[in-house]
Amino acid sequence: MKKQIILLPGDGIGHEVVQSAKQVLEAVTERFNHSFTFHTHDIGGCAIDQHGTPLPHDTLQACQEADAILLGAVGGPKWDHNPSHLRPEKGLLGIRKALGLFANLRPIKGFPQLLHASPLKREVIEGSDLLIIRELTSGLYFGTPSERSQNDKSVVDTLYYERDEIERIVDTAFQSARRRRKHLTSVDKANVLESSKLWREVVEQKKTEYPDVIVTHELVDAAAMKLITNPTQFDVIVTENMFGDILSDEASVLTGSLGMLPSASTRADGLGLYEPVHGSAPDITGKGVANPLAMILSSAMMLRHSFDMEEEANVIEEAVRQVLADGYHTADLNVTGGTIVNTKQMTQHVIEHVTSK
Ligand code: NAI
Ligand code: MG
Repeated sequence: MKKQIILLPGDGIGHEVVQSAKQVLEAVTERFNHSFTFHTHDIGGCAIDQHGTPLPHDTLQACQEADAILLGAVGGPKWDHNPSHLRPEKGLLGIRKALGLFANLRPIKGFPQLLHASPLKREVIEGSDLLIIRELTSGLYFGTPSERSQNDKSVVDTLYYERDEIERIVDTAFQSARRRRKHLTSVDKANVLESSKLWREVVEQKKTEYPDVIVTHELVDAAAMKLITNPTQFDVIVTENMFGDILSDEASVLTGSLGMLPSASTRADGLGLYEPVHGSAPDITGKGVANPLAMILSSAMMLRHSFDMEEEANVIEEAVRQVLADGYHTADLNVTGGTIVNTKQMTQHVIEHVTSK
């Protein structure tokens, strides 16, 4: 299969980890006889330096024409004091919005070798394997008005959803649940918020189209508590933009390291942007020690969601499991024993498992 992939390394360790993911994908193309072409474009701080804007027109156009996008990370101290239109993260928010990437998928799965890297008790997190689906282009972060009164005596933000925006994210969630353990938890605040009441109604209506999926409704405050006291009860969680932002960061503590968490931002026709959850890590940039696994796992999500390459995605995920089982880990993982490796060595170990049948 032929595919065009845009690489947006961005800033800091973005370059190091995107390079790793590209090499792993090249190993996948060899093993499965695919043909992937890669083109690299600027976004974030490096784009501000090179082109005077965090999201150059060329970058956006290339992404619009691509089959999928891999992004490293944006930002760093160099641009922290820039005016708001020249901030690296403007590039990231801009590309998600411009491409209509409304569904943010964050799988959270503890690897057995990393159970003691989490601050939570082993018996609580063991076996947890969940997928948080966050609505990404509407809700409280985009609703208008969002402003202060002139005398600063009052302020308003608006939680606005159109029914079809709720329907499309709920459909995505049901379809994902179908491919997993067929349990969907919809998280809202329907005891208080009108937007949540409509959200709940839509889920109840959609449920009839997916009779094989079991649906549970949770209020967001209770869901926050259960996520860290009983995470194994969850399979797929679907929720509004801000609730999803908070819950997905909370859930990341189940796995022990930021360097392990992939994510996907997708839309219905399959185009997607895949990126690690972590940032540009200025403190370790250029040292060659960044953990490339979140980025590599993001590329596996790309194969599954944008290219329908389930087997190829499984091969990468299995390779990561194998490398951890062999005792290799990067320095960010708080595990005792095993062998500490750098970015290139970690990548090489993953590639060895991808190429060995
Ligand atoms: P960060 O995720 O870059 O780093 C937090 C800590 O985790 C650091 O100690 C870092 O060394 C470590 N870390 C992160 N990823 C790692 C990896 N793959 N391997 C090993 N260690 C890793 O978050 P921080 O420090 O808050 O932000 C740094 C910059 O990144 C800021 O400019 C921030 O705005 C930006 N950022 C960008 C994001 C994105 O592009 N999606 C997301 C989060 C932050
Ligand atoms: Mg967040």
